[in-house]
Amino acid sequence: MVATKPPKNQSENQFDELRPGVKAPAKDSILTPRFYTTDFEEMANMDVSNNEEELKAIIAEFHVDYNRHHFVRNEQFDGAWDHIQGEKRQAFVEFLERSCTAEFSGFLLYKELARKLKGRNPLLAEGFDLMSRDEARHAGFLNKAMSDFDLQLDLGFLTKSKKYTFFKPKFIFYATYLSEKIGYWRYITIFRHLEKNPEDTIYPIFNFFDNWCQDENRHGDFFAAVMKSQPQFLDDLKARLWCRFFLLSVFATMFLNDIQRKSFYALLGLDAREYDIEVIKKTNESAGRLFPIILDVENPKFFAQLDECTKHTAAVSNISQSGQNKVIQTLRKIPHITAIGSKLISLYFIKPIRVEGDRGIVR
Ligand SMILES: [Fe+2]
Ligand SMILES: [Fe+2]
Repeated sequence: MVATKPPKNQSENQFDELRPGVKAPAKDSILTPRFYTTDFEEMANMDVSNNEEELKAIIAEFHVDYNRHHFVRNEQFDGAWDHIQGEKRQAFVEFLERSCTAEFSGFLLYKELARKLKGRNPLLAEGFDLMSRDEARHAGFLNKAMSDFDLQLDLGFLTKSKKYTFFKPKFIFYATYLSEKIGYWRYITIFRHLEKNPEDTIYPIFNFFDNWCQDENRHGDFFAAVMKSQPQFLDDLKARLWCRFFLLSVFATMFLNDIQRKSFYALLGLDAREYDIEVIKKTNESAGRLFPIILDVENPKFFAQLDECTKHTAAVSNISQSGQNKVIQTLRKIPHITAIGSKLISLYFIKPIRVEGDRGIVR
């Protein structure tokens, strides 16, 4: 996708551009949205037959396609967005870009899985294909929104230029299940807040978040159904340790990212920390319906340690912006990165909560 209109006033945006109106992708860091790839052979050979009924029911729901006509840019978008300027504009465009990249990353992975699994694992292939349909809509809608700010992402360029992280299928399932569920809670929490505080709706895209988040919720349910067909992903010690690891990684990444971008949440009248705590608690609770453990997020140490981490991530980002020699920068960053690492390890060792829940593992 490329720019459809030339920028009205380039000075309004302070971003690097690939071409006029096409934003250069944000530089990769440990906290930027990733693109994933996996072992397609292993995925193709995965036997999901013992939870076929549930998978078929979810796929039938995907086919209903509740949001077929939802992502249509209507008159709400006719306004001009020049009132969002300066740092606000930067924070806003960055939010759109990160969201678009994350949605597009889902699209690429699901589309590739659908393609590779076609004819070999038809049920999974069909599910992935229908989810890629949804993610393409989400990414496209966000990219269109960027054009309201006279920028777009070149998704073709992004596909070729981004590094892909390899995850074994089992880890793809933990990670995507959680990112779909956390995506649901992120969107619905913003939507509900703006429903109560309509004066904070500075841009109409948020009005679309209600039906949108239902797509993410259904995607999460699809991954849950696949995992239930693989009891070894959920019911032994190794599974409990991995669930703990993925819960913490997903929560910590979101928390550290959002606190760094609190100015964006403030634009919507939200306190980034409170918002994240709410989203983390809800996602943790949702995960308890599938995972054998959840994190003890009520333990006072939990958010206290994450708060400590945010001080170090702020220090790292200040060093990055200092313009100093790269070697000096790296040396200055080491103690902060070590501190973040040790705090994350201590968070990992907070005793989790065992849940027997309604996992309904199929044996
Ligand atoms: Fe999505
Ligand atoms: Fe999704």
